[in-house]
Amino acid sequence: MKSIISLVIIIYSGILFLGMSTASDKKKWKTYIAPSEQRTGDPDKGYEYLRHGNYVSSGIPTKFFPNRDSTNLGVSFTRTKHANGTDIIAPNCFTCHADYINGELVLGLGNHSFDYTQNLTGPMTLMSMMIRNSVGKESKEWAAYESFKKSSSAINPNIITQVRGINPADKLTSVLVAHRDPASLIWHDTTLLDIPKETTPTDVPPWWVFKKKNAMFYTAIGRGDFSRFLMASSLLTVSDTTEAKEIDQHFPDVLSWIKSIEPPAYPKEINQELAQEGQIIFNKTCSKCHGTYGDDESYPNLLIALDKVGTDATLSNAYTQGTYQNFIDWYNKSWFVTGDTPGKLVIESGYVAQPLDGIWASAPYLHNGSIPTIEALLNSKSRPTYWKRTYDSKDYDWENLGWLYTTPEYKEDHRTYDTTIDGYKNTGHTFGDHLTDSERMAVIEYLKTI
Ligand code: HEC
Ligand code: HEC
Repeated sequence: MKSIISLVIIIYSGILFLGMSTASDKKKWKTYIAPSEQRTGDPDKGYEYLRHGNYVSSGIPTKFFPNRDSTNLGVSFTRTKHANGTDIIAPNCFTCHADYINGELVLGLGNHSFDYTQNLTGPMTLMSMMIRNSVGKESKEWAAYESFKKSSSAINPNIITQVRGINPADKLTSVLVAHRDPASLIWHDTTLLDIPKETTPTDVPPWWVFKKKNAMFYTAIGRGDFSRFLMASSLLTVSDTTEAKEIDQHFPDVLSWIKSIEPPAYPKEINQELAQEGQIIFNKTCSKCHGTYGDDESYPNLLIALDKVGTDATLSNAYTQGTYQNFIDWYNKSWFVTGDTPGKLVIESGYVAQPLDGIWASAPYLHNGSIPTIEALLNSKSRPTYWKRTYDSKDYDWENLGWLYTTPEYKEDHRTYDTTIDGYKNTGHTFGDHLTDSERMAVIEYLKTI
């Protein structure tokens, strides 16, 4: 009996102690992100499904698609069949998750050049008129197009960004869910929820680092079964939960393909001696957040507090302070959190210190792509307030690692990155400021090797 009482006392004081330590830990600068269990799949099947599967199941009837010759189609569109047998062309994940670097197309590299600064409502209306006038609204073609048309029309005016190359995916998702019933996923033409006014931009992250991460997205909100988040693009056109269940079965394959890809190797010569000096500095200054690379590989999976990292807080705050509250509430009662393999949103403030494998290839830097080179990331004084690049993937700065750019005096047009706008700020991450120029160049040389 005595021993039971003392056991209870020990457990109780343990709980008390835990409670106290979280209270006094309020100012902690890092949070460990624990792993969640994932379904496994077949990477080859996953690649096949990504390229040719019908997870976007409505689209432009093939005969109305410009450049429909499939050799010109590129990787961003899938030629598939609507359930009613019509040949359609629909966008796929590579619209956002493939791009060129140094003239080479790399699948899994974030698209850094797509232009979301224009409202595509006009071209979409023209396309709809053309299809309607040609085959009529009673046709199979129109039926195969209608769901894609509805979601695109809802999205287009709501996802306009301030500069070309940055992505509105978070906002896009919040528009789509506002039109769908969370339990049945059925589309409603009117919105069921208010859509946030702001379009908070993000730089599309490269897929090859994802295998090391215990949570999805810059804010680490995506936990539980990742496939439930990966399939979110189907919110464009999914008709009900029966179709969602069918799509869901393929995404463990997609996840295992994403986990199988490797970063592109740095294509120029590397000064190995300098890189070794850089490795020592990196392991002292950077690895506690970003991990170690090479033979002794490790990755700590940390979410870093906003006041520690100091980068633009808009995206993180959008999840913790209300902007995306409707989306969070929708998700937590939606089909995506049901069944044996639920997805889970965990809302915490801060940004993930991501793995830096192949970092040379994924400029610009930070979650909002506000910094054009690694040199500028590691030397906050040299960051441009306004900067402009050509979007030609060969205009690469091999010395400073990132894009070549010019620095206009003000925002000239949709190609000028204006870091004075909320959500687009280039503040924080001053962890390289104290390095001497030669130490910084050594770290940059090292980053080319990982
Ligand atoms: C409209 C553009 C767009 C499309 C289409 C798109 N994504 Fe993404 N994806 C993004 C953006 C932007 C992010 C980063 C968002 C964030 O972290 O806030 C992202 C994040 C991810 C991540 C998390 C990466 C990480 O390191 O946390 C994965 C994995 C992913 N997407 C897979 C997919 C798959 C699979 C598809 C197709 C079924 C897809 N995406 C379609 C834009 C897109
Ligand atoms: C206290 C933790 C911490 C330290 C120390 C740190 N970083 Fe970071 N780093 C982060 C976080 C968090 C981000 C993401 C910030 C964001 O996107 O807003 C980041 C982002 C980056 C990025 C951009 C990644 C991308 O995909 O855009 C690079 C490159 C980088 N860090 C390199 C370094 C180097 C090199 C050092 C050492 C000189 C270093 N970091 C030190 C936390 C840290």
